[in-house]
Amino acid sequence: MNIFRKKTVGSLDETAGKLNRTLSALDLTALGVGAIVGTGIFVLTGVAAAVHAGPGLVISFIVAAITCVLSALCYSEFASSVPVSGSAYAYSYVVFGEIIAWMLGWDLILEYGVASAAVASGWSSYFTGLLDGFGLHLPAAISGAYDPAKGSIIDLPAVLIIFAITFLLNKGAKETARFNGIMVIVKLAIILLFVGVGAFYVKPANWSPFLPFGMSGVINGAATAFFAYIGFDAVATAAEEVKRPQRDMPIGIIASLAICTLLYVSVTLVLTGIVPYTSLNVGDPVAFALRYMNLDMLAGFLSIGAIAGMTTVLLVMLYGMTRLLFAISRDGLLTKKLSSVSGSSQSPKGSTWATGTIIALLTGFVPLSKLANLTSIGTLFAFAVVSLGIIALRRNNSGKRNGFRVPWVPFIPLLSAAACIYLMINLQAITWMGFGIWMAAGVLIYFLYGIKHSALNHSSEQMQSKKET
Ligand code: ALA
Repeated sequence: MNIFRKKTVGSLDETAGKLNRTLSALDLTALGVGAIVGTGIFVLTGVAAAVHAGPGLVISFIVAAITCVLSALCYSEFASSVPVSGSAYAYSYVVFGEIIAWMLGWDLILEYGVASAAVASGWSSYFTGLLDGFGLHLPAAISGAYDPAKGSIIDLPAVLIIFAITFLLNKGAKETARFNGIMVIVKLAIILLFVGVGAFYVKPANWSPFLPFGMSGVINGAATAFFAYIGFDAVATAAEEVKRPQRDMPIGIIASLAICTLLYVSVTLVLTGIVPYTSLNVGDPVAFALRYMNLDMLAGFLSIGAIAGMTTVLLVMLYGMTRLLFAISRDGLLTKKLSSVSGSSQSPKGSTWATGTIIALLTGFVPLSKLANLTSIGTLFAFAVVSLGIIALRRNNSGKRNGFRVPWVPFIPLLSAAACIYLMINLQAITWMGFGIWMAAGVLIYFLYGIKHSALNHSSEQMQSKKET
């Protein structure tokens, strides 16, 4: 059996629905900012500044942004030349064949799944912080992932928000774009408020030393900061619905990345300027900085904005994961139960509930710091494969020709893959171990299940029987 058997763009077209082309570059930009700005800036900046990069985290954010722009160009070309749902998984089925597609799909399950858990965990930090502000203190046992040192057992608010969103997704997601638009405005307003007010409290002495952990700390910080940009790949998945993909896709992706970089750099500068970086190792650093300046009221507002912002990221991530499981299951590589569609909303209930339950368990019991880096390594791997995929796509000419095209191929794709691999190398050994175990499990599942149940078996069998008759 050929483990590198491929799908053609034509066959993907048959399975894909015909969608209306309604999205403009502005819509894409809003979608991007909605999917991107969340836990990375509101939560991880604290740990990354305290443990990895100090005030030099600003440079980490710029390095991570450059890596993302390079990959984003490659995503844009795939999105417009292979415009079907399933994202990098579907692209790889066309250019590299089944086993690579499966491994990438399995890797993306890790990305979306673990990112959702990490974001829910950040959501919970801000939520409990907000309740504390009102004098409502949740018992330690139910307000954090399992950690005997802190006396916490389960992160109940995180589990509940995951189930609430799963419920929402099951209802169908018609209003998502409007809901997202409003949330993006709230998010932006809150961040601008923080930067505008915080700037008056900056003490430049806090920026010195600027690089307490040297350049290696900055690069480690970049690998962590990378998490903050995850989500722009979700924009690429909207390719089928863009009015003028050739022009709007790159504008949407690059504009949302540029806006986020600007926001991240200013927040980091202000944050490390207000609070000495050594004190930033907390779950809600941005609100913490405001409380540090006795701006408790503003800290409350910020928490509400952060909670709203992280909710949309969660929505997009969980949505992405359900659709990915749906696509993989439809291809027969995972159980068909995951692609059952039901109810008046015609939403994939099997994959939605499976996603919700697994993520809720993960987020309830596993601590955040280990989670976020697993997402980054998984995503960097996917970006590296997608970047190299562009070279293969051009070589075997398998995509549609009238979409967006990456300039300077193969230079840009190679540079993009190299940048991703470089950041991967800078993640800790424990992250690599987790990633290795996950991917090894993927190989096993493919040979025990996927290869036998792949939908391509039937199509080749059918061709075989047609030949014989
Ligand atoms: N970029 C997303 C966030 O920071 C995953 O929450």
